[in-house]
Amino acid sequence: MTDKIALIESAKNILLKNNVDGYTVPTHGLYPFQWNWDAAITALGWMKVDESRAWLEIEMLLKGQWDNGMVPHIIFHKPVDSYFPGPDVWGVKNTIPTTAISQPPVLVSVVKLMVEQANDKALAQAKLAEMLPSLIAYHKWWYNDRDPENTGLVVSYHPWESGMDNSPAWDESLDAVPPVTYKYKRKDLDHVDSDERPHAEQYDRYIYLVDFFKQSNFDSEVIYRDCPYKMYDVGIISILHKATKELVTLCEQSGSESEQITWFNQKLSATEAAIKTLWSAEHNSFLNQDAITKKSFPVLTTGTMLVVYAELVSNDQLALIKPLFNDWLKETEYGMSSTYAKCAEFEPQRYWRGPVWLHINWLLALGAEHYGLTEESEQLKQASERLITEVGYFEYFNSKTGAGCGGDEFSWTAAIALHWFL
Ligand code: DGY
Repeated sequence: MTDKIALIESAKNILLKNNVDGYTVPTHGLYPFQWNWDAAITALGWMKVDESRAWLEIEMLLKGQWDNGMVPHIIFHKPVDSYFPGPDVWGVKNTIPTTAISQPPVLVSVVKLMVEQANDKALAQAKLAEMLPSLIAYHKWWYNDRDPENTGLVVSYHPWESGMDNSPAWDESLDAVPPVTYKYKRKDLDHVDSDERPHAEQYDRYIYLVDFFKQSNFDSEVIYRDCPYKMYDVGIISILHKATKELVTLCEQSGSESEQITWFNQKLSATEAAIKTLWSAEHNSFLNQDAITKKSFPVLTTGTMLVVYAELVSNDQLALIKPLFNDWLKETEYGMSSTYAKCAEFEPQRYWRGPVWLHINWLLALGAEHYGLTEESEQLKQASERLITEVGYFEYFNSKTGAGCGGDEFSWTAAIALHWFL
């Protein structure tokens, strides 16, 4: 067997091993349920193994969709006790318990890719027709629920919603959230070293927010008015924007009503105008902003760089972002570190404060390619390939040493490798 065939086999085996009754856990133990953006990315890997299984991954995710359209960040399909906070702590009483927040909505972008790349076109078209109303409802929820004042920028209510949990970009806003004062047992530290995970002070606030949603009876208006954490997260805004553009294409191809398409196009235009308010001429970058205090945070993260993936960058901004993009890649060898290594907050091994993620390298490579940054795109791909060949399928990687971090045999890492370069 050549090395490449062995790598493909290992990646496929990871998906098979993490397969639980039609959905895929990111990794057993640490993340024993179905996560929103993990499921989407993982479906791309399943497309290389079994196309109907790939569609099932998305169908299982949509089983957790709320009546208001939200696709939650975790679907607790069945009880497992290796994770905290589980369904009882979240307190959502739906038939299938879920969390009360969402996650970066890469879902529609993935579905569009699946339709384009499917060998079984009839199956793909049938699945798309079935799920398109749910995908539309999900995107409507984002704009209606998270931007009720129609500013063009959706807000996020929890660092977990960003998928980039302990990013230093929201340290200050999270500090303003009261910590819980009762004792609880974290379970992530049973699986992973504490120096690769968020600090206790951050967890105390994550849990405060979970309690706040429950005490607010998950009422959208109350949460929008009173949530002590509200972030204009450039990563979420960018991923949503790109996915909405792709949703519009899917709607057009499927002959959806023109009012629907116009509505989404208006949302896209609003974001294209509003994103300019997050640009910092001082940092040559877009910055995350606290939606309560309107304070911007000068911490450069892969989230802020995802504007490139969203194709939200003007020519003038691109000329300024390009040297930053290059330097960022030079600072670490394995692709784009989740925090720019020249920022004081950079920690190469601690979760979203500096390590490298394969799916983020991929999203950024797509954006780089779009803007003609071919070398940078190729660099991201080669760095990612090196990590898989030399290190393995870890959740993320120390951006200075390349060492594997977090969970091992990780679904989205295997899936992106299968989709992107294997
Ligand atoms: C966790 O529990 O660490 C997850 O990232 C939440 O989504």
